[in-house]
Amino acid sequence: MADIKSEYAALKQVILSQFSKFESALDGMGMPEVTSSDLHPLDDPSLLVSKDLFDARSQLVAALGQMSSLVQNPAEHLLSESLAHHTSAALSFIAETGIADVIESSPERQLHVDEIAKSIDSHPARVSHALRLLAHDGIFAEVREGTFANNRSSKLILGASPIKQWIRFQTWYSLGYSSKVAETWKDPAKSKSFEQIDSAANAAWRYSDKGYGDFWDWVGHEHLPYANAFADALKGIGSIGVLGILADYPWESIRPGGVVVDVGGGPGHMLLPIIKNNPTLKGVLQDREEIVPAAKENFDKNLPGADVEFDAVDFFEVQPRKQADIYMLRWILHDWSDERAVALLKQQAAVMGPNSKIIIIDALIPPATRAAAQDPSYPLLQSRSQASNLVLRLDFEMSASLQATERTLTEFDTLFTKAGLKITNVYRPRSPQALLEVMLA
Ligand SMILES: C[S@@+](CC[C@H](N)C(=O)[O-])C[C@H]1O[C@@H](n2cnc3c(N)ncnc32)[C@H](O)[C@@H]1O
Repeated sequence: MADIKSEYAALKQVILSQFSKFESALDGMGMPEVTSSDLHPLDDPSLLVSKDLFDARSQLVAALGQMSSLVQNPAEHLLSESLAHHTSAALSFIAETGIADVIESSPERQLHVDEIAKSIDSHPARVSHALRLLAHDGIFAEVREGTFANNRSSKLILGASPIKQWIRFQTWYSLGYSSKVAETWKDPAKSKSFEQIDSAANAAWRYSDKGYGDFWDWVGHEHLPYANAFADALKGIGSIGVLGILADYPWESIRPGGVVVDVGGGPGHMLLPIIKNNPTLKGVLQDREEIVPAAKENFDKNLPGADVEFDAVDFFEVQPRKQADIYMLRWILHDWSDERAVALLKQQAAVMGPNSKIIIIDALIPPATRAAAQDPSYPLLQSRSQASNLVLRLDFEMSASLQATERTLTEFDTLFTKAGLKITNVYRPRSPQALLEVMLA
């Protein structure tokens, strides 16, 4: 297998060169080396990193992940991945019991598992199994055998942090249905249906048996604490990537007085900073009736006097704002099946003028194909291995739970063609999402 040797050598070269780029990009921003113990300036969500740092970091994570699966014994890799859900289960236990807080509030900010167990009324063995698995994965530090402290990662789950709330909701919900995925996806009828009732999530949680046709309806009525945990999580993480999208798209090129319609804009995580930075633009925030008051409140509080109007709409119905400059859809299409996404896009296309644009802000899933040998990033996978784990896992989640999907560029293109639209530009801002500019075909 001569190919493997050249792949290995090329990967080693990418790793070494990306190490240098990462270090000089950190230097360029006047930042110290990264350590596992303390929060780093890079972890500040209000910071926009330089393009060099953004690229070097993602290539380095990708290359190291790829090298790890290349060097590792593949049998061990497979056996271990088949148990990967135990990391989620351990995280779930930690988030539900507040173990990070128990450790942090101890006099020396480190505790033996015996003490932790006492404080949460559990057995030390349970605490130990969870903490050593996580510490091994870089979450928590085992300072002496059996004694744990928080580290750079576990500090993010202190208190009621958005990440802790996300972990609580996700692990409860996803672990609960994961065992039904294979059964549902090999069922000839269910696998071909995109109704929520036929999802793996409903096969496990059986909310349809209780008369609910929709997952969110069920959680909101029967599991309110988890619905609230998810809402709290979104409030905190809704701004992720916003700075990159503001900086790396030419918002200033929209004509003065241009209208930006935020379709399904939620509280306005994206529209508010756009209007704040570009006060000559006029904003329209559209969402479901019950969401609009929270959006108004957000603008009244954080950008009083802004030129923004609010529409209560169903985005599957006629778009009331004709010939706007921009129809923005951030984190919208990934919630819907292809059929529903095309229906939604058609409503926008029907009222667009020749200069109107749709801006889609969503994850863009690259295929896991290898960069060509002449490409400088050879042999990295286009999907960027571990650097894209989050979006690929979310893609799986969207399908198993909501019968929806993240999409590749080809998959987006198919949707647009069906809705009478075409892609005119693809932007890759410093953000986990890409930005697609779309016009009438
Ligand atoms: C994932 S959130 C995205 C929110 C916002 N675009 C952002 O990026 O923060 C999806 C939004 O779509 C809205 N939504 C869902 N169904 C809708 C419908 N039929 N009509 C209008 N808005 C809807 C939800 O209320 C929610 O605010």
